[in-house]
Amino acid sequence: MYNQKKTKSYKEIVKIPQNLKKELPTSFDIIGNILLIKLKDEIIKYKKGIAQALLKNHKNVKTVCLIHPVSGELRIRKIEIICGKKITETVHKEYGLKFLVDVKKSYFSTRLANERKRIANQVTDNEIVVDMFTGVAPFPIMIAKYAKPKIIYAFDKNKNAIKYSKENIKINNVLDKVELICTDALNIPQYLKEKNIKADRIIMNLPFSSFDFFPKALQIIKNEGVIHYYEILTDENLEIRAKNLEEIAKKHEFTLVFNSIRKIKSYSPREFYIGIDITAKRKKDADVA
Ligand SMILES: C[S@@+](CC[C@H](N)C(=O)[O-])C[C@H]1O[C@@H](n2cnc3c(N)ncnc32)[C@H](O)[C@@H]1O
Repeated sequence: MYNQKKTKSYKEIVKIPQNLKKELPTSFDIIGNILLIKLKDEIIKYKKGIAQALLKNHKNVKTVCLIHPVSGELRIRKIEIICGKKITETVHKEYGLKFLVDVKKSYFSTRLANERKRIANQVTDNEIVVDMFTGVAPFPIMIAKYAKPKIIYAFDKNKNAIKYSKENIKINNVLDKVELICTDALNIPQYLKEKNIKADRIIMNLPFSSFDFFPKALQIIKNEGVIHYYEILTDENLEIRAKNLEEIAKKHEFTLVFNSIRKIKSYSPREFYIGIDITAKRKKDADVA
């Protein structure tokens, strides 16, 4: 589960000038036993005291880290341990599953727990699923555990993400259901073509670049399939993006049905982490490569 804790109690014990208390964060993430917090510049010099108060108030937390925004192609956070054990590796539990994560080496968001479960609930028996940007494999493991897919192909270009994915599919006993491939998503069509495989369902969780890879998804999908597409967008851009996706689909002889468009979490005051469930259908007379 995503741990967005109300912070009333730590605010009461933290040693910081009264006039700055309003700048203290009201929420933070807890991945396993690591608490990740962002602090405004005004209070950064009190980071030690803030971290100590958080550590005191959260018995399961062993380490408090200051985080800078997720950045770069591999979506890795810059992390500074402020207080507690000097560790960045932890086991996070969600829906009875265990994910070994190194918060410094690969992306993981507890806030997507319900989204992963929602998708697993949609998977029907014997589906071929492709996760184009798998991270430490939370989507494939959730699907393998809560649905009955034939197989899930999970790709990531970060070798650390694949290393942790390997551990995670072992820990969760889904070795027979998930195949991990360390490569750039650009290579996925070729990889699957050689195996003569097309997907029933595709997960595209690379919020700043999913759009660039959408044509690749259309190359690997069956004549009809579902794409779970994620992108960070403002309200104004949402409609434009839907049109862009339709234009690409048209070029690839597909039509799209937008089944649902959801705001999963906020990213900045005007931007949201948007999830779009799309059914892609190949036009009847289209020439299949
Ligand atoms: C936002 S994370 C999502 C991870 C995972 N799906 C999750 O929900 O926790 C995106 C992942 O895509 C990977 N990635 C970035 N660019 C890629 C590319 N061109 N090909 C394959 N993987 C890529 C990153 O290493 C990262 O693990």
